[in-house]
Amino acid sequence: MPQIIRDPKFDSTLDVLRQGYTFLYDRSRKFDSDIFQIRLMGMKAICLHGPEAAELFYDPEYFIRKGAIPRRVQTTLMGVDAIQTRDNGEHRCRKELFMSLMTPESRQRLMGLLAKEWQRYAQKWEQIEQVVLFNEVQEILCRAACAWAGVPLQDEEVPTRAREFGNMVDGFGGVGPRHWRGKQARIRGEKWMRGIIRAIRAGELQPTVDTAAYKVAWHREPDGKLLDVQMAAIELMNAVRPIVAIATYITFAAVALHEYSPYRQRLRNSSEDYAELFVQEVRRYFPFTPFVGAIVRDDFTWHDFHFPKGTMVLLDVYGANRDERWWQDPEVFWPDRFRHWQDNAYDFIPQGGGDFLTGHRCAGEWITIEVMKQAVHFLNDGITYDVPAQDLRYDLTRMPTLPASGFLMTRVHRTGKAA
Ligand code: HEM
Repeated sequence: MPQIIRDPKFDSTLDVLRQGYTFLYDRSRKFDSDIFQIRLMGMKAICLHGPEAAELFYDPEYFIRKGAIPRRVQTTLMGVDAIQTRDNGEHRCRKELFMSLMTPESRQRLMGLLAKEWQRYAQKWEQIEQVVLFNEVQEILCRAACAWAGVPLQDEEVPTRAREFGNMVDGFGGVGPRHWRGKQARIRGEKWMRGIIRAIRAGELQPTVDTAAYKVAWHREPDGKLLDVQMAAIELMNAVRPIVAIATYITFAAVALHEYSPYRQRLRNSSEDYAELFVQEVRRYFPFTPFVGAIVRDDFTWHDFHFPKGTMVLLDVYGANRDERWWQDPEVFWPDRFRHWQDNAYDFIPQGGGDFLTGHRCAGEWITIEVMKQAVHFLNDGITYDVPAQDLRYDLTRMPTLPASGFLMTRVHRTGKAA
């Protein structure tokens, strides 16, 4: 039986934090292998790369998620013991809840709310000298996501809540103050959401039946019981926070419109849905999720390699988008590459792969694509603006990363076209 190549380094935890997005792909190239082994937080971890490995990783027969997500990520990004850590029937039941929010009608409702917010904010931008797009888009998304989810939000709360959702995401790869800010934001956010769940169950708040707040508050687990208040609060936030996180992709999309400006005409004039190709390329080209993790359910063998029960397994997400075996000229921003691309659920996994219901693929992938398309159309056609000199570089050693300036815009004017 062949041995999995081992990184001779005793423990790579610090290297992962220091090197960030490129860590796994660099090692994969160095060892010239789509499978290798490192030590992470004192434990053995098998690292996988490429579509064939992704197909294995997303087969729930071989892997579980319980124990796979470090506590520091749970206490910032997604909440302790949330859907991301669940397995089998328990996961399926929770995932059905999330997927019930992703119907065409529900997505349409979100898009309508967002269209109004884009106009409202653009009107405000006309009055101010300079706009930091990332911060503004977080607010736009926060307002629309809360309204969509049936979560009451006062105008004066918006800047703080939007920033705190952002801090939860920003905290997952950070140490020191960044991690602490993420944790504090989550503590405050969960308290807020617990209040909403309690108010719904007490009949003091009555969101409509199609909202996340209603569905989560009254969701029953496989044992027939309601979620406890804390878990309901966490899952309600899991429906809102990631919508706010789309601000990162929208900011990268603005960078792409600016740096690859010939595509602006294509977006305007093309008879096909060019925005679809454009946002897929944004999700491929720019970094967001670095990797995902799971735990081996029971001993098994794959390509003669032995996977012992209980071993941590990491799947490279960032590197999967940059390998020239699957992407021609991966360092070139080229939306047309998606024209003939056929989704097989494993070769393009910026938000995870495999099946939505039986696996852990991101529940909000369709929403993400639609929200990004609307944003690209609005930034391209709904407003005019100048892009002043600024630092648009993003640091691949920081997870998650963002253009340093957050994308500054000046002299914003509405064109009268809807979002
Ligand atoms: C899971 C990325 C937007 C809800 C995930 C996963 C990734 C991801 C990588 C984990 C996949 C895995 O564990 O294998 C992203 C990115 C987004 C985004 C980059 C863009 C900002 C959204 C949106 C929603 C959402 C808009 C909901 C409104 C979820 C949920 C899960 C999840 C509920 C857990 C799924 C499960 O464990 O079965 N996302 N996501 N995400 N995402 Fe997203």
